[in-house]
Amino acid sequence: MDIMTQRIKIQIFPNDQALFQLAATDFRARVLKVLNNNPFFSLALSGGNTPKSFFDVLTSQDRDIINFPWNKIKFFFGDERYVPASSSQSNYHMANQYLFSKLPIDPKNIFFIPTDLTDPNEAALCYEQTIRSELVCKNHVPCFDLIYLGLGDDGHTASLMPSSKSVEHYLKDPKHERLVESEYIKNLKMYRVTMTPRVINHASNIIFLVTGSDKAPAVAEVLEGKEDPLRYPAQLIQSLDGETIWYLDSFAADKLKKKSSYEY
Ligand code: 6PG
Repeated sequence: MDIMTQRIKIQIFPNDQALFQLAATDFRARVLKVLNNNPFFSLALSGGNTPKSFFDVLTSQDRDIINFPWNKIKFFFGDERYVPASSSQSNYHMANQYLFSKLPIDPKNIFFIPTDLTDPNEAALCYEQTIRSELVCKNHVPCFDLIYLGLGDDGHTASLMPSSKSVEHYLKDPKHERLVESEYIKNLKMYRVTMTPRVINHASNIIFLVTGSDKAPAVAEVLEGKEDPLRYPAQLIQSLDGETIWYLDSFAADKLKKKSSYEY
């Protein structure tokens, strides 16, 4: 997918701690820049395990907690497992444990995906209304200031799984009207709710945080392999008119052919 590498920025770090330290500095600068001209900063978080270390860095310094405008950030989720918010599998539960509970954040600024509704599709529709009402829209699509994403070792991102309905819908019609969709993921034996590529790609900035050697094959396929977004949905993700950045540690970047041109 060499086309992609021409339009995105890749930075490789010697290890995950160096990556998260820079990502935290980068995050703070982005928030302060947007808040210079806007009343709030809209941020969508990814789930899984990688964000835990990033959140630890963000919340490690008291000075960063007290002096930073956390209450001017609106927090959203790029995807969610359809489990109760109290479940250890919940992305909201993880973000609350590692981030929200450690910061002076008003709960009204946390917009979680309502997995307490019986019907996952109802939850997806409800969340779509939420992001439409909370965010500024461009071409009728809500625009996030920043969306963080992870990468699965199978090339998925958010809950855009290989050969999933959402991916098929987007490939058939990039202007497909749904911004949030739900789907039963057979191999995970659970429903997932996910933002679609359409709303993700409308974000001003998209940042992938990917660490670990288990991700190296997927990173190489997504960034340098042949174009096959049904198999590698992360290939669908590029900000339409903003920045798309991949922050990789050296282990996740290990199979990239052109890694020397990306070193941080
Ligand atoms: C989720 C995530 C998912 C995640 C990747 C990577 O709900 O699991 O949103 O897209 O980012 O699967 O997960 P790890 O960070 O745990 O490797």
